Amino acid sequence: MANASSFNGVPHHIAIVMDGNGRWAKRRLMPRIAGHRQGVESLRRCIRACVKRGVRVLTVFAFSSENWNRPPDEVSGLMELLAKALAREVPELRKGGIQLHFVGDRGSLSEGLRQGLARAEAETADNGRMVLNVCFNYGGRWDIAQAAARLAERGEPITEGALDRAMALSHVPDPDLLIRTGGEQRISNFLLWQCAYSELHFTERLWPDFDEAALDEALAAYAARERRFGQTSEQLVRQAAG
Ligand code: IPE
Ligand code: IPE
Ligand code: MG
Repeated sequence: MANASSFNGVPHHIAIVMDGNGRWAKRRLMPRIAGHRQGVESLRRCIRACVKRGVRVLTVFAFSSENWNRPPDEVSGLMELLAKALAREVPELRKGGIQLHFVGDRGSLSEGLRQGLARAEAETADNGRMVLNVCFNYGGRWDIAQAAARLAERGEPITEGALDRAMALSHVPDPDLLIRTGGEQRISNFLLWQCAYSELHFTERLWPDFDEAALDEALAAYAARERRFGQTSEQLVRQAAG
């Protein structure tokens, strides 16, 4: 969808590549899954902090199309963790006014998990405080391809606008700020289409350690950016002056 505005310098939509769970666990001589468990706690904290700061949409990368290539016990551990998080977190999210969406290819998920995702979405559909998109079995290339396939099926011309409307995140404006924790400076097949004009913020901090102060650091960096969308700095100054 089109670019969102930001109110008082707070991004309307934040997207996060929650990376570094495995390293967090390894440093503590713990199994990788312990890092993922701690990652869920970090997400709870981050959701609360975003709501408090007036962020309207939070989109997080929880499992990529490529993460199936991990050792089978880690993959099954992550599936289990999602099932447990659904059971444990959804009632609280519902009470907190969060509208949940799961974004990604559900075809290869178990029937039980698919039902859980649909139930969580239905139970929170009327909430309006903040939208939380959890990208699970998601890939930016998958998203572009599925959108194009849908248009082709309907015999619709493939235009930017039509593709945009067929994408998995068509219910929200594009992210204003994309944060990646864990020190890597890459997109790893996250929101390839939607990040065309997002501001990027990379931090060394591992996802389980991403606290309110780390979020505020990212927000401060974002507030200091000049978003030009192809225009010149002088044009923006003139427009702001009215
Ligand atoms: C991100 O943490 C979570 C998932 C990809 C599921 P990682 O598991 O990639 O953590 P590192 O990068 O190995 O530390
Ligand atoms: C990206 O992290 C995916 C998620 C955070 C879910 P990865 O750890 O899978 O990314 P790469 O493999 O280092 O690029
Ligand atoms: Mg990683």
